[in-house]
Amino acid sequence: MKFHSVQVEERKELGSYTLLRYRWKDGPVEPGQFVMARTAGYPVALDPFLARPFSFYDYDGEVASLLFEVRGRGTALLDLAPAIEVTAPLGKGFQIEPDLGRAALLGGGIGVAPLKVLGRRLDALGVPYDVFLGFADGSSAVVAREFAGAEVATMDGSVGTHGTVLEAVGSLEDYGAVYSCGPNPMLAAVKLAAGDNGFCQLSVEERMGCGNGSCNGCVVPVRGGGYVRSCIEGPVFRAEVLAW
Ligand SMILES: Cc1cc2nc3c(=O)[nH]c(=O)nc-3n(C[C@H](O)[C@H](O)[C@H](O)COP(=O)(O)OP(=O)(O)OC[C@H]3O[C@@H](n4cnc5c(N)ncnc54)[C@H](O)[C@@H]3O)c2cc1C
Ligand code: FES
Repeated sequence: MKFHSVQVEERKELGSYTLLRYRWKDGPVEPGQFVMARTAGYPVALDPFLARPFSFYDYDGEVASLLFEVRGRGTALLDLAPAIEVTAPLGKGFQIEPDLGRAALLGGGIGVAPLKVLGRRLDALGVPYDVFLGFADGSSAVVAREFAGAEVATMDGSVGTHGTVLEAVGSLEDYGAVYSCGPNPMLAAVKLAAGDNGFCQLSVEERMGCGNGSCNGCVVPVRGGGYVRSCIEGPVFRAEVLAW
C-alpha cells in the first residue's frame, strides 16, 4: 500500500477532538471512505508499528481533513506531528440514492466524522437531510457546532437531549434513507430503529491492522454465516447484511 507524505496545514481543537487538515489532490474521496495514517518518518520511526484508520471528515477537492480523538500512542503522535503519511482513500463508502427523499444522518462520538463530507455530498445532490449527533458529554459535543442545525444528545445531559442519539431522533419511519456511524452497540440500535427501512447503511469502526485486505483483523459477521473484511467490503455496509 502506498503512503503519501503530506504537511499538516492546520490543526484545530474542537473540545475533545482534533481537526487536522492536509492538502490532497490525488483523487476523489467518497463519503464514508477512510485513510490509513501515521506520522512521517517510517520506517525509521516505526512508532507505532501499524498505521491507523480514520474516516475522511471533509474534502473540498483540495484540502482533506480528519477528525480524531486521542486514544493511544498512534493518535497522540498524530496530534503533534508536523508531517504525516496517508494512503489514498480506501474502502467502500456510503451509497447515495438521491431519489429516496429525506435522509437521516446519525453519528455517535467520533463516529460523527464521516457525516460532514456525506452532508456536503447530499447538499450537492439536492437531497434534504437531518443530522443527529450523540456524545458522552459536553466536551465531545463541541464538534456539533460544525454541523449546522444538528440535533444533539449527550449521555450526561449537559447538551441537548439527555440520552442516546436515538432519543434525539424520535422516529426514523419518515426517512427514505438512514446513514450512520458510531460504536457497534449504537449501530445495532440504529438498525433496529430503522426497522423495515430498506435503505439503512452503517459504517463500522472495527480495529484494523493492514487496511488492505491481507490480515483479516477487521472482519465483521454477516447474515447467512461467515465474515467479510471491513477494510475492503466496508467500512460501510447495508444494515441487513450485518449479522448483529
Ligand atoms: C474505518 C474506521 C474509521 C475510523 N475513523 C475514525 C475517525 O474518523 N476518528 C477517530 O478518532 N477514530 C477513528 N477510528 C478509530 C481509530 O482508528 C482508533 O481510535 C485509532 O486506531 C486508535 O489508535 P491509537 O494508537 O491512538 O490507540 P491504541 O493504542 O491502538 O488504542 C487505545 C485504546 O482505544 C481502543 N481502540 C482502538 N481502536 C479502536 C476502534 N476502532 N474502536 C474502538 N476502540 C478502539 C483500544 O481498544 C484501546 O483501549 C476509525 C476506525 C475505523 C476502523
Ligand atoms: S485491516 Fe487487515 S484485512 Fe482489513
